[in-house]
Amino acid sequence: MKAIAVEPGAGTPDLVEIPRPEPGPGEALVRTLRVGVDGTDHEVIAGHHGGLPDGEDRLILGHEAVGVVEDPNGTDLEQGQCVVPTVRRAPNGTNEYFERGEPDMAPEGEYVERGIVGDHGFMAEYFTSPAEFLVSVPDDLAALGFLVEPISISEKAIDHAAASRSAFEWSPESALVLGNGSLGLLTLAMFEDVLEIDRTYCLGRRDRPDPSIDIIESLGATYVDSRETPVSEIPDEYEAVDVVYEATGYAKHAFETIEALAPNGVGVLLGVPGPWEFDVDGGRLHRELVLHNKALLGTVNSHRGHFEAAVDTLSQLPRSFTDDLVTGVYGLDEFETAFETDDDVIKTAIEFASA
Ligand code: NAP
Ligand code: BGC
Ligand code: ZN
Repeated sequence: MKAIAVEPGAGTPDLVEIPRPEPGPGEALVRTLRVGVDGTDHEVIAGHHGGLPDGEDRLILGHEAVGVVEDPNGTDLEQGQCVVPTVRRAPNGTNEYFERGEPDMAPEGEYVERGIVGDHGFMAEYFTSPAEFLVSVPDDLAALGFLVEPISISEKAIDHAAASRSAFEWSPESALVLGNGSLGLLTLAMFEDVLEIDRTYCLGRRDRPDPSIDIIESLGATYVDSRETPVSEIPDEYEAVDVVYEATGYAKHAFETIEALAPNGVGVLLGVPGPWEFDVDGGRLHRELVLHNKALLGTVNSHRGHFEAAVDTLSQLPRSFTDDLVTGVYGLDEFETAFETDDDVIKTAIEFASA
């Protein structure tokens, strides 16, 4: 069968021929429909994040998949059922994090991530997975099912942000998303249409006309250009906000977030930057966090419950939004196009089979 693989750092993925996998006990065989591409895939391809499975010299890419059960292989799944796989697996079968259903909280060494670090991904015509890591998706969401994984990332982030504010009465009225990539825009749509936050902002560094700015404005949010208004000046130019969701991977934003927050606000960091040394006024930021009861937290990955919530969220997002967000779906004959990064590309997916 055909698969898309990369030698991390080589710069471009290749179409390769590999054997079709055989499901083991407790595993189902899934026929892949579509697999999305995100910023992490680009970081893996560049060799800046992730790593190869032990003893291998290339990695099958892809962690945002949707497929159809081809062979339930004695599991509770049904043939023809539409499913989305979760990303993390235990390196040696299981461990305490996986046993309690919280693989997303496992520390390094206690997990591999399919298509990212230590295990092959889903960019292949078929993949196998233990049934417990396959989340059911209604058939009418099959074409967009590759958005479930990235939405699940924000379900977790929002959950943890709210949990950090759960000791007091907290009703956020404003939110700022840093980053107008696919993760930032999906989260902006969740803030606008699902959580119904009154005032939303989204930060980018693009000139108009730009499709991401069009999406931001069609969602009813305000576009903030970081070249004109640095994050720390947002309270002066616009307003201090109750929630900041960082999805730029631009390390200074982690610290500037503290200044953009209103008292009692929470900043949630998603980006995965490389090393970068710069000066910060640590005393001022420390004081700001303490005297205004602010919280700053990082979050990565998501568990099955977040995937289930994401399926529900996806069903609520307006189709006009998802139509604008998904700028291209490409067959295997033109898979390279899915990895292009022009300004008119927002979210792409590779189609292995039609639903
Ligand atoms: P992406 O497509 O690369 O989006 C990042 C966006 O941020 C781009 O649109 C970029 O704008 C913008 N940006 C970067 N620096 C900026 C700055 N200084 N000012 C204004 N805008 C800036 O990536 P993504 O897939 O949306 O993911 C976003 C980040 O989240 C990445 O760092 C990714 O690694 C991370 N991530 C983390 C998790 C997790 O579990 N924690 C999950 C998924 C993704 P331009 O395109 O104009 O440069
Ligand atoms: C994936 C997560 C993963 C993270 C760090 C993200 O793009 O969506 O599942 O945990 O990268 O590797
Ligand atoms: Zn991802």
